[in-house]
Amino acid sequence: MNDVTDPSPPQAAPPPGCPAHANAVSLSGIEYQQTPLDLYRSMRFAHGPVAPVVLDGNIPAWLVLGYSEVSYVTANDELFARDSRRWNQWPNIPDDWPLLPFVGYQPSVLFTEGAEHRRRAGVISEALEGVDQFELARECALLAGDLIDAFAGSGQAELMSAYTHPLAMRAAVHMCGMPAGSAETESLVEDLRISLDAAEGDDPVAAYGRVGERMNRLIEEKRKRPGADVTSRMLTHEAGLSDEEIVQDLISVIAAAQQPTANWICNALRLLLTDERFAVNVSGGRLSVGQALNEVLWMDTPTQNFIGRWAARDTQLGGRRIQAGDCLVLGLAAANTDPQIWPDSAAASENSAHLSFSNGEHRCPYPAPLLAEVIARTAVETLLERLPDLVLGVEPDELRWRPSVWMRGLTALPVQFTPVVQ
Ligand code: HEM
Repeated sequence: MNDVTDPSPPQAAPPPGCPAHANAVSLSGIEYQQTPLDLYRSMRFAHGPVAPVVLDGNIPAWLVLGYSEVSYVTANDELFARDSRRWNQWPNIPDDWPLLPFVGYQPSVLFTEGAEHRRRAGVISEALEGVDQFELARECALLAGDLIDAFAGSGQAELMSAYTHPLAMRAAVHMCGMPAGSAETESLVEDLRISLDAAEGDDPVAAYGRVGERMNRLIEEKRKRPGADVTSRMLTHEAGLSDEEIVQDLISVIAAAQQPTANWICNALRLLLTDERFAVNVSGGRLSVGQALNEVLWMDTPTQNFIGRWAARDTQLGGRRIQAGDCLVLGLAAANTDPQIWPDSAAASENSAHLSFSNGEHRCPYPAPLLAEVIARTAVETLLERLPDLVLGVEPDELRWRPSVWMRGLTALPVQFTPVVQ
């Protein structure tokens, strides 16, 4: 088992100029953001299933593009481990590196390994298993209704800011036991938004500090008055997590739930509103909403790339020599569209063998994908039921993907509909 408390000390390898990274592809830029599938195709052609890439600041890493290679990496968590302190590039990383919030080690479930990870992830899974999916669907429908009420009279809305993001965040906060609509919940929702997705002028560090304080108060409240919620179940779990561990893991759960679920809703709505296969029976078409949600997981998955895994020792992968401490980015979108698993260019499958929730020890923990589906399906169905003549407010080719290599979602999703008199 890996020594999780003292991962191998950093050695600067591969150095800039390493032959393996001579033709490295930059994981940024407009081509990446708008037409990533074309880029994956050319990367596969040029480099095979494991491509040398450079991250922001010319930092080398590997992008794992092949379905079987991503499956192998994620299934072998002792060889491809999760504790980022193993990275051999730390000597080259500046203090203000933009990816630090995702890669910098934190004592949360995300970066733990081996038995310690099973302990932490086990508590999360069991706490999530206690969520009543019918109650969650009812609550999401209410939350969705409130958000729709705020713009229904105007005949138009920008759904990313007015609907998908706030709904996913409120649903996650509700599961953790905070009352919807209270002033404290609203300020937490705003601080979480700033921490996870800061806009210009926001102070994410101060906001993250307030989130930590609020989580500590939540724990105190739930110790005094436990409820039927994720926080209370984590507190009373026999594994006996410390308050600090619970704060870290609650923030991880909310963060892990919010962005992917919001973008899943957004990408499914985009598909429903732009693809004529769904146009005929979009309103109330239960089957087609489910198909759109599944198709998005294959073709426009929210977590398109995930950073990452760090090699615990020298090894080989997809014909590449990987050195101990190298960083591997999981190319989940590339793996889902790998031609090796689409031999006859079939349409997006109805099965769920995609890697959108990853795989192996650190995959999105059961039953989080099911809960995410309850939230996403309720969000889409409630919107289409309330505003049945909803159409895009711009031409489909005017929609822009967010400038992110990691999350796939739109910068804005403007829509129009007949105003609802309330
Ligand atoms: C209710 C909603 C959700 C919750 C509570 C949730 C929770 C989590 C947690 C706690 C982790 C960390 C697992 C670990 O490191 O052991 C995780 C990882 C992950 N989740 Fe989710 N998640 C949700 C929705 C989603 C959605 C909608 C997607 C994408 C469609 C997604 C994709 C992932 C991926 C790709 C990982 C990384 C796994 C890895 O390291 O290999 N999650 N999730």
